[in-house]
Amino acid sequence: MKKHIKHHSITVAVVLGVLALGAGAFVYSGIYNIGADDHHTKPVFAVLQTLRERSIQAHSQDLKVPDLNDPQLILKGAGQYAAMCTQCHLKPGMKDSELRPGLYPQPPNLSQTQVDPKEAFWVIKHGIKMSAMPAWGGSHDDPTIWSMVAFLQKLPAMTPAQYKDIVAKAPPDDDMDMGDEAGRSHSHGGAAADMKDMPMPGAASHGHDHDQDQAADNAHAPEAATTSAAETPLSLQGMTPNAAPQAEAVAHAFQEALQRGDRTAALALLAPNATISEGGSTQTREDYANGHLGEDIAFLKDARITPVSLSSMLMGDNAMVGSESEIRTTIKGKPLSLRSREMLDLKKFGNSWKIVTIHWQSTPLTEKGS
Ligand code: HEC
Repeated sequence: MKKHIKHHSITVAVVLGVLALGAGAFVYSGIYNIGADDHHTKPVFAVLQTLRERSIQAHSQDLKVPDLNDPQLILKGAGQYAAMCTQCHLKPGMKDSELRPGLYPQPPNLSQTQVDPKEAFWVIKHGIKMSAMPAWGGSHDDPTIWSMVAFLQKLPAMTPAQYKDIVAKAPPDDDMDMGDEAGRSHSHGGAAADMKDMPMPGAASHGHDHDQDQAADNAHAPEAATTSAAETPLSLQGMTPNAAPQAEAVAHAFQEALQRGDRTAALALLAPNATISEGGSTQTREDYANGHLGEDIAFLKDARITPVSLSSMLMGDNAMVGSESEIRTTIKGKPLSLRSREMLDLKKFGNSWKIVTIHWQSTPLTEKGS
């Protein structure tokens, strides 16, 4: 019995040794065809595929995913993707590239493939060994990589025209300076990122400042407003009139509801988790309903509002609407003219668009101010 076991162990050892030698000889012989145009056998492919999938899953499972519906993040990702990824991963309307057919494994057509956000982030950051997929983490920070992931979530639903459109509006690939702002700290990256620091709220938001008695020494009073002119203005860049007509209609309805003092109608257009940013602070829908909304309504009641521009951008179920207007009113007997900008993020819930974030900013129109 004991002898038997010993005998078996020797056999196993010999077999393993022979296999190892065989493997060594195989590797060394040069028989193996490492050419990318010679494909793996089915069993080898299956093993590699499992190795790849499990490795990516295991390494990515603990990642924290930021808000991938942030329009500015998606927009940034569009620019990144267009600049670096289409030769291998294609784009809507692109059948193939010169590079792609020669690659093995062949890069998936990401304009037709929905990717898991965590796995995609990990793969983009670290690349995949023995494949053409580079590790972009060496040259791109995490927020930038999340912007690509955010864009990839929308890409499969895009038509060639929509793709062209969004890429044309995207910030150029090389503006990596916005750092964390793109994905984390608040809902807007890029030029719009600085909005939360604006000392001046916008059009509809002036009520709570100017209808108060201490309006004159309030930070938002006209004199203080002058300083805000030096700050980065809220950017309406990349938007075109009528790009998202339904979202524009909601923006319009919201402004009208505020002007005619219809609280219920105004609140009905806000998503339950909506945030309202004005004058450097961000409020929830509930805070706003209980506070500034009433003041905004009071302010707008006596104001004369001249619309200057209204434009939008559509990204699948998300849209941005930017507008500018001139507001003329009288505060404690003094005439006040403001140029106000409003930026809304909207999201489609079922068949209706709701406002998810509001940013307001305004500057005094000194040249014709009185
Ligand atoms: C030189 C070609 C090449 C470029 C450029 C490239 N990739 Fe890839 N990528 C690949 C290949 C090949 C794979 C598949 C590797 C595999 O399956 O082992 C891949 C896989 C991926 C995956 C995983 C897809 C899935 O279904 O799991 C994602 C996500 C991805 N790439 C994103 C990007 C992004 C974003 C860029 C641009 C920043 C990019 N890639 C640029 C070749 C490329």
